[in-house]
Amino acid sequence: MKRLSTRHLIGIKNITEDDIQLIFETADNFKEVINRPIKKVPSLRDITVANLFFESSTRTRVSFELAERRLSADIVNFTASSSSVSKGETLLDTVNNILSMKVDMVVMRHPAPGACVYLSQRIDANIVNAGDGTHEHPTQALLDAFSIREKLGDVAGKKVAIIGDILHSRVALSNVFCLQKLGAKVRVCGPPTLIPKYYADLGVEVSHDIQDTLRWCDVANVLRIQLERQDIKFFPSIREYHQYFGISKPMLDALDRDIVIMHPGPINRGVELNSDVADGPHNIILQQVENGVAIRMAVLYLLAAGN
Ligand code: CP
Repeated sequence: MKRLSTRHLIGIKNITEDDIQLIFETADNFKEVINRPIKKVPSLRDITVANLFFESSTRTRVSFELAERRLSADIVNFTASSSSVSKGETLLDTVNNILSMKVDMVVMRHPAPGACVYLSQRIDANIVNAGDGTHEHPTQALLDAFSIREKLGDVAGKKVAIIGDILHSRVALSNVFCLQKLGAKVRVCGPPTLIPKYYADLGVEVSHDIQDTLRWCDVANVLRIQLERQDIKFFPSIREYHQYFGISKPMLDALDRDIVIMHPGPINRGVELNSDVADGPHNIILQQVENGVAIRMAVLYLLAAGN
């Protein structure tokens, strides 16, 4: 049996193209399983997974929990707001207490970049990063690339634009690493204040022109403006952001070919996407969510198999 080159999924930067292809092949099989009348397999029976969410989440938390249930794992769910973290307990103390209850795998979302690396160096369980601050969100990038492969047949050679708040996005960085490893051409597009300078050194194109970017790309992955992470103003107003970078159906109709619209969610309707795009025929947003379960099943299964 083929195995991943790692025992944790901390980021796409640390895995190989072969790892990504293995995750995709395994997810193809699990996608078939979850479309059967009986959606459950016994692959993670007797494995206990702790879902530790120190930051809010809808899609990722539900998707991991569903993936774990479909694999017959035992599950412990933890959210920071209803735990002893609110009484001042440290991350390591919290996790060690949970692990002493014999947990095998930890899926963690945390506001601090590097929180999953920190844990992986201190505990024995497999760690899966479900988003660490503005650093990486590896399963989101995997499900995004898997959805492009499903829609367009392959990722290699495709032109993918990542549009919006790149500065505060963990999805952007994981997507850049994943798409480049799979041979796509990547461009980031947004206001200069929302694109960090180091992106030019990652080998991606940088643009501040949304019309030109939509003409250039095969796929536009549109990101949310993360107002909750913006402690200063990065653009004059939401209205002005929408005027310069919001995507509407007339803009897509003006192109000479169809492009694929993606969004990791949650969407700010009327800001980065108008509803006629968010609900329109160009987008694969709900297919991304569906594919997330198969991708997360594949990641958990392959990490457990590596043990
Ligand atoms: N895409 C994503 O990470 O969504 P949630 O924040 O709802 O998990």
